[in-house]
Amino acid sequence: MSTNTIEANRRAGAFADHDELWLFGYGSLIYKAGFDYIERRPVRITGWARRFWQGSHDHRGTPGAPGRVVTLVAAPGETCTGMAYRVTPAVFDYLDHREKNGYLRAVQPMTFEDGHVEDGLAYIATADNAAWLGEASIDDIAEHIRTASGPSGPNRDYALHLADALRDMNVADTHCLAVADRLRALIAAE
Ligand code: SIN
Repeated sequence: MSTNTIEANRRAGAFADHDELWLFGYGSLIYKAGFDYIERRPVRITGWARRFWQGSHDHRGTPGAPGRVVTLVAAPGETCTGMAYRVTPAVFDYLDHREKNGYLRAVQPMTFEDGHVEDGLAYIATADNAAWLGEASIDDIAEHIRTASGPSGPNRDYALHLADALRDMNVADTHCLAVADRLRALIAAE
């Protein structure tokens, strides 16, 4: 798969004929929407985990020195809490561009705090995309993030903003919080 997913996402077209849909944000979309939305609510999905396994060539790194950003990986039995945004399909142009470095739109059942379940859309980068970096130790991920930077700013800002947003939502994401804790220690030692 090419790193640029804009065309593939346009062709897929799920929800394009709906007036409104729910979008599941689990990374930068939690702390920085950047698009108009009707409402937003915490929501969880099951069978997925948030991991810093995706490379970023266009936001928090460059093609020559990619940053590390989160994607969702299959994790039977686990739940991943994020932020659901009720949006219109007008946001697709903006989102397809923002998430173009390997992320594909995927339909995903989401469970709201009141227990009701609805299908929504998540942008997920899978292991077959060209920007995939994959698993690494928490120490290696934190050190990678410490040094990377791209057009949207330092990779460390992404990781620390995400950890702060998850803490504000009372989400005990052990992977993301461990990366942020290690990263803070590395920064303190600079
Ligand atoms: C998301 O936030 O839902 C996708 C990953 C990212 O842009 O950080």
